Amino acid sequence: MAKPKEQWASRLGVILAVAGSAVGLGNFLRFPGTAAANGGGGFMIPYFCALIFLGIPICWAEWTMGKHGGQFGFNSCPAIFGALGRKPIWRYLGVLGLIIPVIIYMYYVLIESWCMGYAFSYLVGWINLGPDPTQYAAESVQYFNNFVGANQDGLMLDGRIHISVVVWLFVFAVNFYFIYRGLSKGIEAFCTWAMPLMAVCAIIVLVRVLTLGAPDPARPELNVVNGLGFMWNPKPLDSQHSTWVSALAQPKVWMNAAGQIFFSLSVGFGVIINYASYLKRKDDVVLAGLTASGTNEFFEVCLGGLITIPAAFVFLGVAGAERVGVFSLGFHTLPVVFEYMPAGHLFGFLWFFMLFLAAITSSLSMLQPAIAFLEEALGIGRRASVALLGMVTGMGSLFVIFFSKDLKALVFLDETIGTITIVVLAAVQTILFGWVFGVKRGARVAAEGAEMKLPGFFPFVIKYVTPAYLLLMLGLWCYTDLGRYVAQVRSDQVVALTFGLVVVVTVFLLILINIGGRRWKAETRELPGGR
Ligand code: PFF
Repeated sequence: MAKPKEQWASRLGVILAVAGSAVGLGNFLRFPGTAAANGGGGFMIPYFCALIFLGIPICWAEWTMGKHGGQFGFNSCPAIFGALGRKPIWRYLGVLGLIIPVIIYMYYVLIESWCMGYAFSYLVGWINLGPDPTQYAAESVQYFNNFVGANQDGLMLDGRIHISVVVWLFVFAVNFYFIYRGLSKGIEAFCTWAMPLMAVCAIIVLVRVLTLGAPDPARPELNVVNGLGFMWNPKPLDSQHSTWVSALAQPKVWMNAAGQIFFSLSVGFGVIINYASYLKRKDDVVLAGLTASGTNEFFEVCLGGLITIPAAFVFLGVAGAERVGVFSLGFHTLPVVFEYMPAGHLFGFLWFFMLFLAAITSSLSMLQPAIAFLEEALGIGRRASVALLGMVTGMGSLFVIFFSKDLKALVFLDETIGTITIVVLAAVQTILFGWVFGVKRGARVAAEGAEMKLPGFFPFVIKYVTPAYLLLMLGLWCYTDLGRYVAQVRSDQVVALTFGLVVVVTVFLLILINIGGRRWKAETRELPGGR
């Protein structure tokens, strides 16, 4: 196994695939809500700090480690960590680069299927909030709760046919179809047309929102300009603070900014390492990494940041625009906005279809690392690895569907994996890159074939600033949230079971890493010159 088995077909293809992984629900639903709740325009200060000191440096480190690991013929995080760190412990730490994408997939694919379900419902006219505008909000919440079974556990799997479960099955199958087709014929080919299509849909919706003016003549203050102001003017966090600057003194705001950057850029997931491992030695990673991140920022700040909240403000005023939780913004508030908007059902379709495209290009990237791992650890072929991963993620996803009451399992998994564990993996990666593999060596590998010079500050930042930033974040989280987190696992049965799911998946993968480790040791020994 001296050469990677699969390769990207083109330079643009790999950039679109990484950008596709990055641009997702995080950009359109998570970002506007997080920004609005953390000080509006003021939030952009911690946000851009996190982008410059965490997001971009770690992204370059991931691209570089991935490309280097690929030269050993490895494509999965545990094998690459093992080859770079040269001690078995690194192999086992690489498990993080598997559990994160695999577990996120279990709930992300569900939200993806809601987007598809909503798009379809708009198309065929199933979403209708009734004749009375005062009831829109209540109707919208009820529609969502019925759709996802949020009122009671087990509702979606009670033996009857639920449209949302049918759509989930379909979306799940589509993901595995593309994964089965392989890296360049499946993922790359799909992203190459899905990304531009998604941009077109988003821009159409954006133009619609920016040209809304003041739709209610009786309330001229509810206009687009004020909507943009509501989103972007720096503002205090809450009534206890008098100025927006005091928001910057809150550690939570900085943590939320960093969490958003990670989630959004797909950094700290083990995904970029995997995608970059299919590059050739002379391929550029510096400009490619920056372009993919830049594309993500365009979708996030310029499209995600200008659509949802201004639209909610224009029709629903401050009260509507303030309900910014990910689900309440996306699935409660926006359907009400579309009900008011001229030709709203058409825009509702476009919007949810675009969200679906954004989500599927991300969910594909969550599956590929595990597929590569199964093939590499067990020596099995594509068909067997797809079947095995389909079974594991299918069971996990059914678990989340079953425990649908208040979306408890989903929300807990997102807190555990989508928020905390990614910071841990990012810390592990930076220590491996900056301290074990070595920054100088890393910079040399990155420079091979690079189309752009790495900035001079990169080695210093990745070695000292990034790990310190991450360790501080982790310490802060332990100080402020660990107690609450443990109490939640202890006191709530569903949460405890969900925690159990994470443990079972982790142990399963650790056992496979142990099996794979023996195979990989032999392979690195066989390489000419050892490394
Ligand atoms: N970056 C994606 C988003 O913004 O929605 C989410 C994501 C992609 C999470 C890939 C995890 C992952 F492995």
